[in-house]
Amino acid sequence: MTDTSKAKYGESIGADGPPPSLEQQLLAAAAAGDADEVARLIELEADVDYQDEDGVSPLMKAAEGGHIVVLSALLQSGAPWNAQDKHGYCAGEYAMGSGHQEAVDLLLDFAVQVELVLGALERYICDMIYMYAAPNSGYLTQKLVYRGEQLLDADGEAVMMGWERPLMVRHAERDGGGGGGRVLNVGFGLGIVDTEIQSHKPERHTIVEAHPDVYEHMVRKGWAERPGVRILKGRWQDVLPELLAEAPYDGIFFDTYGEYYEEMRDFHIHLPRLLARDGVYSFFNGLASDNIFFHMVYCRLISLELASKGLTVEYEPLAVGSLGDEVWQGVRSKYWHFETYFLPRVTRVDPLDAVEEEGDEGGEGRPCVEEAGGVTAAADETMAAGGRGEAGVAALAPDDQLQQ
Ligand SMILES: C[S@@+](CC[C@H](N)C(=O)[O-])C[C@H]1O[C@@H](n2cnc3c(N)ncnc32)[C@H](O)[C@@H]1O
Repeated sequence: MTDTSKAKYGESIGADGPPPSLEQQLLAAAAAGDADEVARLIELEADVDYQDEDGVSPLMKAAEGGHIVVLSALLQSGAPWNAQDKHGYCAGEYAMGSGHQEAVDLLLDFAVQVELVLGALERYICDMIYMYAAPNSGYLTQKLVYRGEQLLDADGEAVMMGWERPLMVRHAERDGGGGGGRVLNVGFGLGIVDTEIQSHKPERHTIVEAHPDVYEHMVRKGWAERPGVRILKGRWQDVLPELLAEAPYDGIFFDTYGEYYEEMRDFHIHLPRLLARDGVYSFFNGLASDNIFFHMVYCRLISLELASKGLTVEYEPLAVGSLGDEVWQGVRSKYWHFETYFLPRVTRVDPLDAVEEEGDEGGEGRPCVEEAGGVTAAADETMAAGGRGEAGVAALAPDDQLQQ
């Protein structure tokens, strides 16, 4: 039996019905921002994971009210930051929706710390699972279909779609394609980014492609004969020694399919050796593309992980607009839900800037928070533009695939 004898919020919950459970009291106390009562209920072992029939949790209520002390107490007691209500919204979105920036920042910082720690554990587990097979080995043996501006897998899932063209054009402009230097692109797909890179007349243009059907398509379309083009057939993981031998590159773009954040992170480990001193790296930023808060967590996580390698990320907001149903016709799943795309541009930290930053008070340990903060601000606008209404039911790693 739960102890409800001191139910401070009892009347408001169940005056005519059974006495409120500890968890119902906790939900109401969190909504009211009553830190003492929340502490008392936690002490009584109220379940901080509780979600009501709509999936609403005490953490979401505290976030919605911007109750910082309550939020901290719940997080410290193990309340999951990434639980979602029945519409797919998490606590971070509740805080964003009600304009409580301090609560958004607290949840974001907490989520990033948790994911940094859990990431290490997951990496270990994934290494065990994928010791013998690539995570996208199923995809790599499927028959693919090119249909106009769509590349589909055997289940009708989109590997790549034409609506991404403006994003790819901008990526090619920003990641060194414009410099006429040595460029590496991982993942050919529809060849949109590679066509753009070619238009900038690079000195060398290396393309890594893992899927045999895509490779055949490239050869059929004459890509092997294009000026400066070298195609490496295979997963980037398998051709890495050749990439390292050919490095450094002035521009690198990474956009694979059917892989996880872990694979992208593994690629990032090699970036310091692959990227030229003044080079620019970019990647398709499609992580958790159905939940704006999870997406922000990934943006910040990537910034922190790259900062540990002496690299800095700027995210440029690009308007995507709302993609109508006609865009998704014939495609099994809609894989993009936001009206804004945050285009990453990764460069080396200037050693002189780094020295200056070290001298700055409070700068230590948060080298790229400002950039990720830019995403936070723009993401708020995305929410205001209706992004929240489309949030789906993604759970953060390990289930989030890089794209589509
Ligand atoms: C989303 S598409 C790339 C789209 C491309 N940016 C464009 O502009 O059309 C992803 C491509 O990555 C390839 N791919 C998947 N895993 C890979 C890996 N580990 N190494 C290299 N290519 C990979 C897929 O076969 C697919 O052709």
